[in-house]
Amino acid sequence: MKELMAEIISLFKRRGFVWQSAEEYGGGPSTYDYGPLGVELKNNLKHAWWKEMVQLRNNIVGLDSAILTNPKVWEASGHLENFVDRLVECKQCHRRFRQDKEGNKCLDCGGEFTSPKLFNTMFKTFVGSTEETAREIYLRPETCQSIFVDSQRVAQVMRLKIPYGIAQIGKSFRNEITTGNFIFRTKEFEQMEMEFFVDPTEAEKWFDYWKQERFNWYLKLGIDKKKLRWHVHQPDELAHYAKKAVDIEYEFPFGWQEIEGIHHRGNWDLTRHQQYSGHDYRYFDENTKEKFIPNVIETSVGLDRTFFVLFCNAYQEITGGRSKTTETNKKKEIVLRLSKQMSPIKIAVLPLAKKEKITKLAKKIFDSLLPHYVCQYDESSSIGRRYRRQDEIGTPYCLTIDFDSLTDKSATIRDRDTMKQERILIKEIIPYLQNKFNDEPS
Ligand code: GAP
Repeated sequence: MKELMAEIISLFKRRGFVWQSAEEYGGGPSTYDYGPLGVELKNNLKHAWWKEMVQLRNNIVGLDSAILTNPKVWEASGHLENFVDRLVECKQCHRRFRQDKEGNKCLDCGGEFTSPKLFNTMFKTFVGSTEETAREIYLRPETCQSIFVDSQRVAQVMRLKIPYGIAQIGKSFRNEITTGNFIFRTKEFEQMEMEFFVDPTEAEKWFDYWKQERFNWYLKLGIDKKKLRWHVHQPDELAHYAKKAVDIEYEFPFGWQEIEGIHHRGNWDLTRHQQYSGHDYRYFDENTKEKFIPNVIETSVGLDRTFFVLFCNAYQEITGGRSKTTETNKKKEIVLRLSKQMSPIKIAVLPLAKKEKITKLAKKIFDSLLPHYVCQYDESSSIGRRYRRQDEIGTPYCLTIDFDSLTDKSATIRDRDTMKQERILIKEIIPYLQNKFNDEPS
């Protein structure tokens, strides 16, 4: 499994999906840069989540709030007081660990740990133009707090009635003591969160509803069901804001780990913001003429973790020459079986020979595809190698232009998964692809 993880990380880097930030300087503080293909895949994932959670529902709307906000928000949310890890240090090698995760002995040298110290994992910074006037503020550790603060304003402008939801995608920051497993746990990451405001008497019903909806989303993304499971939080695991919580876990090459949390936050956040801001967060029910503080059911998933899941789910190694050329039949080939919706490049245009007439036609076809699909044009090296490069990055279709294309006005389209090759008329390429892409929900 360690080897599989190393192979996946190597592919991440080799093909320009993700690499460690500022590797040239020895790396960032557990931070990562998404390269050209990584950005495409990340955007596809964000788009799919947004469509599923906002655009396909008539009672959920979006928000894009500031990362830096009034520090009182974090006092009210309980993060200043409670967002702590228990930090222990090895007495021999001085490596630091999170106590709850790492057992009783140092993982590196087996040394004894010091007694635990509480460590707040929020990043602190300062605003103000002079040192004397500077005041402390924090980088947000979760995206949802501004949703709570803005919830009434959003409900009013959009004329929302309970039950309604507010969704947000954005960066969060945590000074994690132990990071690792590449982009699995980092200090800077993106979250996709949705807060659903409900009548307290209906909170349990909505908690169950969102549990199922969110699990189903992973199935819709094509994630192997056998690699997904629930983890129900015991009372001693619950975050300070949660009345109830379940995680959706995925079996990564390094074991079962959380990818998403579904939390019943009760009225914790709105009650605290009411208390600390003085703003009345009660909801007026026009039917009963009563006011109450809504309960909140939260769905919270890490974008980077889901990206990782998609990769692990799609990664496949084939030995023995899938493409059956003498050049490759002894080598290991990699196919990234991403869904068409998630693939960063939808179609690659490959002229069979570097002859002017052929490359001219190939470029013309490529230009005509650009407004419709994210495409790549590649004329370097043998056709077998080019196919393999595209298989490695998950491109579902390759279009080959050859000498016959000049006369029969057709091209050969190759399917990544079936390896089937079809000859189609050049003028039919767009409708052909539209048909293929419509097979899958997007
Ligand atoms: N608002 C609730 C909240 O933030 P959480 O369980 O702390 O809940 C939710 O985080 C999700 O955010 C996790 O399931 C995970 O996918 C992602 N996440 C949390 N910490 C992370 C980190 N250090 N690196 C990458 N993703 C992280």
